[in-house]
Amino acid sequence: MFMNRVLALFAWALLFGAAAHAQGAAAPTCTTSKCHADLTTAAVVHEPVKSGDCDSCHSRDTTKKAKPAIGHPALVRIQSRKISAVCLPCHDGIENTLKTSPHKHPPVSDCTGCHQPHSSPNRALLKEPFTDKIHVEFDEKLFALCFQCHTLDETQFRNGEKNLHFFHLQDKGKGRSCRACHEPHASANPKLIRQWMPYQGLLLPIRFEATKTGGRCAAACHGAKRYDRVKAIANEAGR
Ligand code: HEC
Ligand code: HEC
Ligand code: HEC
Ligand code: HEC
Ligand code: HEC
Repeated sequence: MFMNRVLALFAWALLFGAAAHAQGAAAPTCTTSKCHADLTTAAVVHEPVKSGDCDSCHSRDTTKKAKPAIGHPALVRIQSRKISAVCLPCHDGIENTLKTSPHKHPPVSDCTGCHQPHSSPNRALLKEPFTDKIHVEFDEKLFALCFQCHTLDETQFRNGEKNLHFFHLQDKGKGRSCRACHEPHASANPKLIRQWMPYQGLLLPIRFEATKTGGRCAAACHGAKRYDRVKAIANEAGR
């Protein structure tokens, strides 16, 4: 291919220290040079990877004493061993959420617990699938991301012995996703409970209150309902 030859020539030009600017031709990057082309073939490619901006997270400076923590001799992550510090400068929305929320999800100290840094077959660069739906018929695979680290067989979200996770998740005809109730990163509420549930373009309040042995939600989905792990509460029937 003519284009490939142009790129190859260009790579040589760079190697020999020639000026990095030629008219019209884009500089070759780690991915266009084919060595790491596989980083850009998945359905979702991270913006800085797409644009070949590998250096925003890696450094090729091998003179620094940084450990080659990622096993590439000439590609050393230097900004920080703490991955969240590498990610947050570009994601000030998340940084702000983490700063201002009293309740953080423990794994957020390492963003790569849930996200691929380069590309992924899943939305939001997630390592495992996690549905973006709020109402969805239950299937474990839709929540594979969360089930990597959690099982909900034994849960604090119960009324007496009744497991309210499975009650909500497996409700016939109107199963809900974790997203209906939980934030993935951090929340103003305990247990990562959302302030607002997204529903058909609206944000509906959940109004969660934790108690010592249970809690109370006055979500727009139903009137105020309470649960108690020690002594089951009889809520009024209906919505
Ligand atoms: C958003 C930050 C970020 C960008 C941009 C980025 N990387 Fe990475 N890269 C990482 C992280 C974090 C790891 C370590 C992965 C881990 O430990 O799970 C890594 C690991 C690697 C590895 C080791 C093997 C692997 O896949 O884990 C290679 C090779 C690599 N990156 C190449 C590149 C190339 C080439 C680019 C540019 C096209 C690039 N990276 C851009 C964050 C990034
Ligand atoms: C050099 C800047 C930069 C760095 C560093 C960076 N990102 Fe991004 N990231 C972006 C841009 C730009 C986008 C696309 C616009 C947006 O969604 O904010 C993006 C998008 C994302 C998305 C949404 C992708 C989607 O398709 O919905 C996730 C998730 C993400 N980044 C995670 C990370 C993680 C995890 C790290 C650290 C390993 C990281 N980012 C480091 C610039 C960066
Ligand atoms: C426990 C898993 C988990 C961890 C750890 C995690 N994320 Fe996410 N992240 C998600 C999920 C799930 C989504 C998709 C949003 C949703 O479903 O509401 C997401 C979405 C995002 C997005 C897209 C914008 C948005 O808010 O929807 C960005 C950017 C992002 N995460 C960055 C980060 C950064 C930076 C870190 C580390 C500080 C991090 N994430 C750690 C699970 C996680
Ligand atoms: C990489 C592992 C990991 C993944 C993936 C993960 N979590 Fe967690 N999560 C933890 C750890 C560790 C804790 C703290 C110990 C515990 O409660 O098990 C925690 C705690 C929680 C808590 C309780 C928080 C509190 O304040 O007590 C909730 C709620 C939660 N996770 C929801 C989720 C949801 C929803 C997902 C999927 C989007 C998810 N987690 C994915 C590791 C993970
Ligand atoms: C209808 C709302 C709702 C849905 C849907 C929901 N949760 Fe929860 N979850 C809660 C509440 C409320 C608590 C707090 C229970 C307590 O401590 O009183 C909780 C607690 C948790 C905890 C802390 C440990 C425990 O079991 O008590 C984890 C982990 C968790 N949820 C994960 C998930 C995952 C993963 C999903 C999706 C598969 C999910 N939740 C779906 C409301 C929900």
